Amino acid sequence: MDFQYIKVDPQAKKNIALIRLNRPKELNALNLQLMGEIRDALHTLDEDDRVRVIVIAGNERAFAAGADIKEMAGKDAIDMLKADQFSTWDQIRKTRKPLIAAVSGFALGGGCELAMTCDMIVASETARFGQPEIKIGVMPGAGGTQRLARAVGKVRAMEMVLTGKFITAEEALQYGLINRIVPVELYLREALRLAAEIAEMAPLAAQLAKESIRAAFNTGLDEGLRFERKNFYLLFASKDQKEGMQAFVEKRKAQFRGE
Ligand code: HXC
Repeated sequence: MDFQYIKVDPQAKKNIALIRLNRPKELNALNLQLMGEIRDALHTLDEDDRVRVIVIAGNERAFAAGADIKEMAGKDAIDMLKADQFSTWDQIRKTRKPLIAAVSGFALGGGCELAMTCDMIVASETARFGQPEIKIGVMPGAGGTQRLARAVGKVRAMEMVLTGKFITAEEALQYGLINRIVPVELYLREALRLAAEIAEMAPLAAQLAKESIRAAFNTGLDEGLRFERKNFYLLFASKDQKEGMQAFVEKRKAQFRGE
């Protein structure tokens, strides 16, 4: 997996893949190629049985400072429509394995949206989140109005999107946007530690639980409960269910194989 704008380590730790955005001079601005590379890497990692959890990180200064403004500046609506960048985002969103964003520094615009597309966010104390698109005459386009409103509530989303202001890691934690804050030198290690904790669990259960939680944001309660129940039953077809329950009875640690 050789890419220009990202670095991928499919086994950064046992059963954990790490994708690092790698356009440091541009604060990891998300150009179309970079997003395509993330999509392709995630597709490959989703198919790789050794990988159970995927971490996406930038660097200390920036997770990503948004879509590449210089790439977009001269485009008109039809150029944007034809580029169809959001089908890339849709494919990223469909990743079955748990995704953790490790955020330090700026997570702005598309960068904040990419972090929110992940299932969990571990942030360094220097992390800054924002949807500043309004300052450049547009608005969020990759889920920023939808996911932010769901994550932090209407009035906070309104203020962030309508003023473009950045929030600190502390505020993001208080708003329920992120899972935790750690010192900057530990943020990646903590994201990988959290990934390792999840990677010890039954992989199919993790994937179906992820799918079910995501359904909570798309369905009414009755439909969501039906969906959850089907996934719950489905896991009784897995070897890991037998292993997990047998291990409990035998008072030993379960060895899950993702089967
Ligand atoms: C292109 C960017 C960029 C971006 C930073 N850079 N953000 N290039 N697109 N989104 C470039 C700068 O031009 C500069 O390059 C270099 O990165 C360093 O940035 P500076 O501005 O010099 O750094 P600093 O003064 O520390 O300010 C950091 C910053 C600021 C506050 C993050 O760069 C900034 O406001 N960036 C834009 C943030 C933003 O508006 N994001 C939303 C984009 S729209 P040079 O060559 O000059 O050194 C969006 C829509 C998403 O995301 C739609 C769906 C995908």
